[in-house]
Parts: sequence; structure tokens; C-alpha cells
Amino acid sequence: MLFRVAPEGAQIGMFVHAFEGRWIDHPFWRSRFLIETADQLARIRGSGVDALVIDRSKSRVVPEAATGAVAIERRSGPPRAVAVERRSPYAPGALRARPPAPVSYAQEKRRAERLIGKSKQAVMDMFDTARLGRAVEAKKLAPLARSIGQSIERHSRALLGLVRLKAKDEYTYLHSVAVCALMINFARHLKLDEEEVQALGVAGLLHDVGKVAIADAVLLKPGKLDTRERAMVEGHPRAGHMLLSQSPDIPAAALEVALHHHEKVDGTGYPDRLSGDALSLYARMGAICDVYDAVTSDRPYKAAWTPCEALAAMQAWPGHFDPDLLDRFADSLGLWPPGTLVRLSDGHLGIVLGSGGEAGEAMRVRIFFDCDTLTEIAAYDREFAPTARDPRVTGRDSPAFWRFDDWETMRARVLGEA
Ligand SMILES: [Fe+2]
Repeated sequence: MLFRVAPEGAQIGMFVHAFEGRWIDHPFWRSRFLIETADQLARIRGSGVDALVIDRSKSRVVPEAATGAVAIERRSGPPRAVAVERRSPYAPGALRARPPAPVSYAQEKRRAERLIGKSKQAVMDMFDTARLGRAVEAKKLAPLARSIGQSIERHSRALLGLVRLKAKDEYTYLHSVAVCALMINFARHLKLDEEEVQALGVAGLLHDVGKVAIADAVLLKPGKLDTRERAMVEGHPRAGHMLLSQSPDIPAAALEVALHHHEKVDGTGYPDRLSGDALSLYARMGAICDVYDAVTSDRPYKAAWTPCEALAAMQAWPGHFDPDLLDRFADSLGLWPPGTLVRLSDGHLGIVLGSGGEAGEAMRVRIFFDCDTLTEIAAYDREFAPTARDPRVTGRDSPAFWRFDDWETMRARVLGEA
């Protein structure tokens, strides 16, 4: 039986099954664990999470009504679906006075093309300024990040799709624009404050400014780099951080992303070889957005991966990215690679079989589980158009929540791979 308790109702001996509320307030990188120490308890009580989901069967202390515990009926769906009043002030759009009205792809495409051209020029000017050793003015970039954020809000796929096409000589500049757009989209999905969203957009525009310290012959070299050249390339995060540190009004998020967007969670990245909890959320986000845009970019000499191919490959690189955050990044783009467990609006679960690899394309799903009866059903395949209403794919679901304890084996069996 699962119980929902307020953070102040948590006790040592309770087994945390999940956290509710803003993911960023979640004080632990693991979401399922036994509360064993006073320090863990203090971190939970001092966090901003809305509530905790406690698994009674794994707890040494039974949640009591006196602690505000409310039993969760599993048949009604995951904890987030339970009829609990959501108090979060960070609902999408809550901090923006009036979100722009959505428009069609064709309408936004025209505006996005103009905005990309303007943004590319602004980033080129900013790089030129940096090359001359002059301070970078963040205040010129903030309105640009805001416009990019508004374009994504009007139609998420227009700008993100267009900016993937990059000629060789404009790659660095358009890559900065793309990372800006991806960071804004991702930060909004994580329900970060709008101020942080904008700062992370500026961070995307500035993250590679240290590349001005790399000679073009090295930066644009298509072949393998020698030791000296690699050292030059790996110096760009520190060079960028130093340059931005000497500039006024640079958001702290931009300094952090510039310095640490090439770190890896296993500590093999550069420049500081940070790992685990030493890596900030901003650095983890920057690493994901940076690589995702690089591998999905259409270049004259390199075929781009589709977004689904990119995500599947990134998930398969052990120790590079934060796996939970990478899942959330995929969710932010509405992309679920083959093999992902998804929930349908009619209360069934399915496994994604495939799609064309792009966001917003029809998706084939193998449906195999009924959430109402908590039983497997005879599996069947169904295609879902992006415009499907009911049933439709509502999003990724958690194998752990449904107690699919050996998910890899179960998935292989359902897919006929076992
Ligand atoms: Fe970089």
C-alpha cells in the first residue's frame, strides 16, 4: 500500500517510493530509499517538495493518519494522478503574465527563420567582441533568449527543427542558438522559475564562447585531433568561463554552464573531472543539450541522427549523462525512443515500437497492460497519430511504479525478444 505524506510528516524508518512536486526541489538523486538518518530527514523536511509517497510494505514505521498520511489507491493510477490538490505555484505559465497564443507550424516557421537569422548575427557579433578581448554584454543577449523562448512557446517544433540545419562556417553560432532553445524548453519542462529559464537561455547562447581561443584550423578540422590540438579544444570551457567572469551582468547559470558543459557524471569529463552530486543541475542540463544538438545537426559532411536515434544512443553511453535527467529531456521534446514504457489515455500501458524518429510523428505502440485491473492483456499493436485524441499517448510511465521489478526481462518478453 502506498501513502502520501507531507514532508513534515516524514519519519526515520519510512521507505520513500517517490516525490511529488517540482522535480528540482527533490533533495536526493535517488527517489526510492529508506529514511535512515536525521540528516536525510532534515533534507526532506527542508525541501520544497509537495509530498512524499511512502511504501508501507518496505517501511519500518507505518504512516499514521496523525502525520497527515493519505492512502493512495493504486488502481486509480500513479501518485500524480490521484485527486490531490496541486499547490505548486509553478504550473506552466504561472509566472508569465500572458503566454503567447499558439500558432500553426507554417506561421511560426516564417517567424522562426527570421529570428534564427537575427540570433546568428548577434552570436557572431558576441564572438567577435570576445575575440577582441572586450567584455561580453549579457544585456544584449537577454532579449534574444526571451524571443527564442516565446517562439518555442508559440510552436515548440518550428525553431528547434529549423536550427538543426547548419552550414560548416555557421555551425558554432547556430549551435549556440540551438542550445539556447533546448535549454529554455528543458528548463520550462522541469518547471524552473521563469528567471532561471531565461538565465539558462542566455547560458545556451554563451556556453561555447571560449571557442574563440581555439584556432579555426583546429576548430574546423574534420579529422582526428593530435594531443596538442585536443588540449586546445578542451581548454575552451575554462577560457569561456574566464572571459565571462570579466564581463558584467553574466548570470551565474551562464558561468556554470560555460565551465562545466563537458563534464560527465562518471568523472571522466573536462575541465574539472567532476562527478555525481558535485555536478550541478545546470551543468547536467548543458551537457545533454550540447551533445543532443551536435548529433542531430545536419552538416554538409555528416548525416544527422534523428532525435530518437540520438536519444537512444545517448542513453546507451554509460556514465556520460544523468540518466533520469536525460529521460526528462526526452519528455521535454515529446520524444519516446523505441522500448519506452508509455501510458495511454484509456488506462493502458504500452511499449513504443518505433516512429520516424522525429517529435510529433505517428508512433507505433505495443499495448500489453491494463492499469484498472493491474493485469497483462493479450498484446496488440496500434499506431497513434500526433493528432490522436482518445486514446492517445499521454507520456512516459515508470516501470518501478507498476512494480515491473525485472523490467528488462518483461519488456523483452512483450516485444518477443526473450
Ligand atoms: Fe563546448
